Amino acid sequence: MSIPKSHYFEARPATASRPRTVRLRLGALELALQADRGVFGSKGIDAGTMILLREAPPPPLSGDLLDLGSGYGPIALVLARRAPESHVWAVDVNERAIELTRANAATAQTPNVSAMPPEQVPDGLRFDAIYSNPPVRVGKAPLHDLLLTWLPRLKPGGAAYLVVQRNLGSDSLAKWLGEQGFDVTRLRSKKGYRVLEVKAAS
Ligand SMILES: C[S@@+](CC[C@H](N)C(=O)[O-])C[C@H]1O[C@@H](n2cnc3c(N)ncnc32)[C@H](O)[C@@H]1O
Repeated sequence: MSIPKSHYFEARPATASRPRTVRLRLGALELALQADRGVFGSKGIDAGTMILLREAPPPPLSGDLLDLGSGYGPIALVLARRAPESHVWAVDVNERAIELTRANAATAQTPNVSAMPPEQVPDGLRFDAIYSNPPVRVGKAPLHDLLLTWLPRLKPGGAAYLVVQRNLGSDSLAKWLGEQGFDVTRLRSKKGYRVLEVKAAS
């Protein structure tokens, strides 16, 4: 009998835990992060994530920032280090990912990171910026639902930065976001990834 494949976006990954340390280097910033099987990017920081961190504008220095789909926290921790006066909300459905983000935030001495499942984010909270390597592999309809849940929670003037692989549908996603009434700009195109800036229509 074949064992069903475990996905990184499951609440409780069936894959047995095998923790490992992955290193993130970004200019002078170096972080050693705990990763694990059953969590996205377990073998090393994803190429798209690195492109987002290198190419997207730096976060606002204060306010509320969202890392949508945080995995073990590489984006959240970089935001928190770059903007120590901000509060970074790291949201994921994968419990193993949430635990790892909490542990990694403690090790990185970034008390301005809160990691949690989506339903624990206070309802009225609005974000100055959103950064995400979104879970494209959940499928088009769930991805669209996810973006329509969180993008309207940007504060006026706020922006979301999304990295999406071109061959996983970045251009059709950008088109769809435009059709939903957002202002979408392709900020960068690098190594098969697009970095999209998404704002509420002005
Ligand atoms: C492409 S991974 C990026 C992970 C991490 N930010 C990184 O850059 O390594 C997308 C993440 O979104 C999470 N995810 C899937 N569905 C989600 C949902 N409905 N709400 C929040 N996060 C979700 C997955 O569990 C996964 O960790």
